[in-house]
Amino acid sequence: MIFVTGGAGFIGANFVLDWLAQHDEPVLTIDKLTYAGNLANLADIEHDRRHHFAKVDICDRAALDRLYAEHRPRAVLHFAAESHVDRSIHGPGDFVQTNIVGTFTMLEAARAYWGTLDGEARDAFRFLHVSTDEVYGSLSPSDPAFTETTPYAPNSPYSASKAGSDHLVRAYHHTYGLPVLTTNCSNNYGPYQFPEKLIPLVIANALAGQPLPIYGDGSNVRDWLYVGDHCSAIREVLARGVTGEVYNVGGWNEQNNLSVVKHLCALLDELSPRADGKSYGDQITFVTDRPGHDRRYAIDARKLERELGWRPAETFETGMRKTVQWYLANGEWVRQVQSGEYQRWIETHYRTND
Ligand code: NAD
Ligand code: DAU
Repeated sequence: MIFVTGGAGFIGANFVLDWLAQHDEPVLTIDKLTYAGNLANLADIEHDRRHHFAKVDICDRAALDRLYAEHRPRAVLHFAAESHVDRSIHGPGDFVQTNIVGTFTMLEAARAYWGTLDGEARDAFRFLHVSTDEVYGSLSPSDPAFTETTPYAPNSPYSASKAGSDHLVRAYHHTYGLPVLTTNCSNNYGPYQFPEKLIPLVIANALAGQPLPIYGDGSNVRDWLYVGDHCSAIREVLARGVTGEVYNVGGWNEQNNLSVVKHLCALLDELSPRADGKSYGDQITFVTDRPGHDRRYAIDARKLERELGWRPAETFETGMRKTVQWYLANGEWVRQVQSGEYQRWIETHYRTND
């Protein structure tokens, strides 16, 4: 069995769904179900006997110890985090608690469990920490892309808390020999992304006839990767990555925010035209910039390609089209997220063992 923390969130849920579509190895999803956790994301595997769910906070050491004792996993995929930069600016406390204290607690529980293993089980155990390119700070337009050796320079409470978690993971390998792997990935997009992040927010607002808010002048650059490609990179790193190593994951796809939003508007104009015949682009609105807004992120993913043969399967065009089609086909999912109804899913649909 594998443990997946944060498996009810955007990337974690995509990972769990893809994993069970490809492997018979069972999964235990460990998730506190914060506002970002949505069990409807796992509805397709609601009755799948290979999937188990525990509503547990990663800061709860006793609960983690019980899960290790009961399920004895061979690997942990650690996705759980507070993930939204804007929220970290308004309320950094939860970010320090979950991303730093939570990762510390996960490492302590993993170390204690790993200490009980011997032989092949001990050699095979892995703790894979899912992190972000934001820990490397901000690039100017002419800087080379981030590599695994770019010095850390986090600028937001979110990225600082993720940097803290990365340092702890590194230290647990160096000091205790815990078999860890770290991935630092660029911006993801795709199905089940919470509509507070740029791409799903723009799709939802466009369809609702609302303004499409662009921070500052829209020239900030991100390196976009389809979520399924991030999940395939994580599977490769888990299977063949070298313990103690860091792998950057990116889409080779830098775009500024205004072009991303215009691309979305063009897709929506084609796939779900406005009743008045006008373009969704008319809804674009420039708003006050995010404080400390990082100018540019770009990932150099050559190590992952060279050492593990990974490259993204989707282009920006194919990934964005799939994403827009998914949101158009899943209006009810968006409606339930926006109304808050999704938070009652657990009472009505799911058996848990918390
Ligand atoms: P998300 O916010 O959609 O999901 C986070 C999940 O973690 C939710 O299900 C939430 O309930 C759970 N969670 C939060 N606090 C918890 C706690 N204390 N205990 C247990 N569960 C808790 O996030 P995401 O976008 O899916 O990101 C997943 C991971 O990938 C994060 O570690 C993030 O830093 C990293 N990452 C995200 C991106 C991106 O573009 N979204 C890019 C690179 C890396
Ligand atoms: O780079 C990886 C990171 O990408 C992850 O570690 C984070 O968890 C994830 O949230 C994401 O962070 P960003 O801040 O880059 O993503 P977000 O979707 O919030 O914003 C993308 C860009 O769009 C950013 O430059 C800010 C801008 N933006 C965002 C929102 C929500 C807008 O212009 N308007 C908006 O309304």
